[in-house]
Amino acid sequence: MNILVTGGAGYIGSHTVVELLLAGHGVVVVDNLSNASEESLRRVLEIVRKDRPDVKEIPFYNVDLRDRAGLEKVFDRSGAFDCCIHFAGLKAVGESVLKPWEYYDNNINGTLTLLDVMRKHGCKSIIFSSSATVYGDPAVIPITEECPKGQCTNPYGWTKSMLEQIMSDLHTADVKNNDAHPWNVVLLRYFNPIGAHPSGRIGEDPNGIPNNLMPYITQVAVGKLKQLNVFGNDYDTPDGTGVRDYIHVVDLARGHVKALAAVEKNCGLAVYNLGTGRGYSVLEVVHAFEKANDLKVPYEIKPRRPGDIATCYSSPEKAKRELGWEAEYGIEEMCRDSWNWQKNNPNGYKE
Ligand code: NAD
Ligand code: UD1
Repeated sequence: MNILVTGGAGYIGSHTVVELLLAGHGVVVVDNLSNASEESLRRVLEIVRKDRPDVKEIPFYNVDLRDRAGLEKVFDRSGAFDCCIHFAGLKAVGESVLKPWEYYDNNINGTLTLLDVMRKHGCKSIIFSSSATVYGDPAVIPITEECPKGQCTNPYGWTKSMLEQIMSDLHTADVKNNDAHPWNVVLLRYFNPIGAHPSGRIGEDPNGIPNNLMPYITQVAVGKLKQLNVFGNDYDTPDGTGVRDYIHVVDLARGHVKALAAVEKNCGLAVYNLGTGRGYSVLEVVHAFEKANDLKVPYEIKPRRPGDIATCYSSPEKAKRELGWEAEYGIEEMCRDSWNWQKNNPNGYKE
């Protein structure tokens, strides 16, 4: 299939472009490089060419999704797209609380422009990067796709929830209007992506001090940060620290390739959790990281982080049943590959 990948130079996007090209799909990337560098795509090509020397280039457009004219040009020059995998968006939870307008403008207006340009060019299939954050504080664990969406605690989360609604409405309207080709909308709710490509050539390259657990741990391990602050040890969990469903980014990327097969069969509106179904506490992750890499990660217990919940992990059964997808990597590989990326690229792509 010919796939438009928005945000394809970013963390999850770059890993997905690898898997798409290896699976034989054509890829065009659009990214405004607000949180990425073109170097990631250079390295993606290097990885892919080891197995697919016939792949000569990855067409790339430095375009902001809100730039309608720029986006039109991408569609005009690329031939027909069969599907868009839509990663582009701002994703820092804390920043979204301080800059809500910027988050709503970028994520909502960017997506509305994209959807309009897509339909004008006859492409009505989209796979969207949603998040477990749309469940809020879940009433039932493990979380299935039937769990009601909850109250988000920040503007970032609301953009995901609202965009899910907008895209679902497009599909529903087509069905009500007896459209012969209703929108295919696949909402993928990611749990906590960590890890990096096993080659150590691409990975997560956060700006400034990381907010998320794994990049914080790796920066402590590499000596950039003094110690990990563990946010709370008084949750109702086995060791008192927060429990999450961490998933290797390569597994996550492969979930998108499986979702494309569903799109090819005109799946209509479909929602899938992408997680492992296994929760790990903060201290379990710290100890798994220490064991996998034979390192020490100094840490100190601090107060809870506002907005955090105790436990969040998925039921990945629906994706397994309907997409034939299931995570293959465990916590050991996640810790090994996160560290492999960090130690080989202490400054990310900025060497
Ligand atoms: P990322 O920041 O590495 O990738 C997003 C990419 O989109 C970046 O390369 C950025 O430059 C680009 N971008 C942002 N706004 C744009 C715009 N208006 N026009 C064009 N390009 C734009 O983030 P990621 O971790 O790879 O996340 C990818 C997607 O998955 C995001 O939508 C994110 O919200 C979602 N998601 C991520 C996580 C996570 O933990 N990483 C979890 C759940 C959902
Ligand atoms: C965060 C986002 C969420 C997003 C998800 C995807 C917040 C509040 N939520 O979730 O919207 O969908 O990423 O990856 O940012 N922790 C520490 N010390 C740290 C960092 C984290 O103890 O320095 C703990 C947290 O309290 C939590 C766990 O580690 O229990 C995971 O945190 P994090 O990696 O930030 O992810 P989430 O909070 O689950």
